Amino acid sequence: MSNKVYIFDTTLRDGEQVPGCQLNTIEKIEVARQLEKLGVDIIEAGFPISSPGDFNSVVEISKAVTNPTICALTRAVKKDIEVAADALKFAKRGRIHTGIGTSYYHITSKLNSNPDEIIERAIEAVKYARRFVEDVEFYAEDAGRTENEYLARVVEAAIKAGATVINIPDTTGYCLPGEYGEKIAYLMNHVPNVDKAIISTHCHNDLGMATANTLSGVINGARQVEVTINGLGERAGNTSLEEVVMAMKSHKDLDFETGIDAKQIIKSSKLVSTLMRMPVQANKAIVGRNAFSHSSGIHQDGVLKNRENYEIIDPADVGVKESSIVLTARSGRAALKHRLQVLGYNYEGAELDNIYQKFLALADKKKDISDEDLDILIDSEQEKEDRSIRLESLQVICGKSTIPTATVAVNFSGDVFTETASGNGPIDAAFSAVKNLMKRKVHLEEFLIQAITRGSDDLGKVHVQVEHKGQTYYGFAANVDIVSASVESFIDAIAKIG
Ligand code: KIV
Ligand code: ZN
Repeated sequence: MSNKVYIFDTTLRDGEQVPGCQLNTIEKIEVARQLEKLGVDIIEAGFPISSPGDFNSVVEISKAVTNPTICALTRAVKKDIEVAADALKFAKRGRIHTGIGTSYYHITSKLNSNPDEIIERAIEAVKYARRFVEDVEFYAEDAGRTENEYLARVVEAAIKAGATVINIPDTTGYCLPGEYGEKIAYLMNHVPNVDKAIISTHCHNDLGMATANTLSGVINGARQVEVTINGLGERAGNTSLEEVVMAMKSHKDLDFETGIDAKQIIKSSKLVSTLMRMPVQANKAIVGRNAFSHSSGIHQDGVLKNRENYEIIDPADVGVKESSIVLTARSGRAALKHRLQVLGYNYEGAELDNIYQKFLALADKKKDISDEDLDILIDSEQEKEDRSIRLESLQVICGKSTIPTATVAVNFSGDVFTETASGNGPIDAAFSAVKNLMKRKVHLEEFLIQAITRGSDDLGKVHVQVEHKGQTYYGFAANVDIVSASVESFIDAIAKIG
């Protein structure tokens, strides 16, 4: 048996069934083109009878992409099959995907039928689809909960009728990996004509088993996997393409091959997430924001020594530039030193210790520390060293029904002077106190506060511009406390007057 595993992407059909994820035809074409770049073998482009929009999308995708087979879904209903065949008329290689429910639930309470009649309808649908296309895939809906012996009869009949691919969907995501693998193994061993078709997995993620079930299916003989980008799909979603592909790539011992260019994975994930307005959870395997980021000191130190200490996939292999070291209060000196080096600062020994303490103080106030935060931390450290006049302490009282009052202490080359003033707000009060202390007649010309990254715990950057005797002086400071940053920047500007 060949070790090539065909990748059947159903992002544009099963994935697109998710409420709120609907795409227009232009967006679908964009996704289909990216799927082609990614190297999928089959694109399930839609369910043409379901709406004119879906019909049109299958037509346009058939025209827009060349390499993948274009597949259209139908029920085991003649009209569905005719419409699907019509939608596929421009496809270089078209496939009709037809099928019917085979579990006890579906046969009795959905289709109001009986097992023998279901087999007859399956045969009829496959034969009818074969009149239009050579490539017909048959799905036994809810195969996950279908008794294996009966499922084998259905599969044998569908292959005999002309099906080239047999899809074994775990429609409700019920199976456990061992159970799903055994189901595929049972079919491989008990369906006499199984070698005439490719067995396909189609797993849903209701119990979080979709990837495990899919791999178990492949290990037991399936050679096509039905997947979606980011695991999008009904309810808890479908099997995610990136997880299955990277599991196969990482476990070389399994010896499976796919035609996927893994470097296109992140690009595909981002495109689908943006167009379908479905953010990817941060800790999602392979494509989540945190999939290659390390935040604890022990892991950061290990990764810096050798990436493989804590990473089983090279991020570059899936299109991520590099792993990231997220600086938080749990980061160690090694991670800080490394990041500072990347930013062009070289600190060692006591100097590094000093910056590390400042970094920890900031990290305790902010969730994570960005490169911009580090730049500002270093700049303000260097400025503090140069400054002979600096803010020593600040206390403000403000709030509803309170007169804003500020007590400011300024250090003038070692001598500390204190002043209290009130104003129309805490910054106005503090600025009045500074003016009194610094004994300079200044006019505030510009005052700008900016948050650097995001979040209410962010560092605030303050720029001020003051005028004194016709001359302009500039001040700057950054602090998680914007009143402190404002006062520091004001002092910085006035101190420059000399
Ligand atoms: O989950 C399912 O059973 C399906 C079929 C229509 C293939 O999506
Ligand atoms: Zn499905």
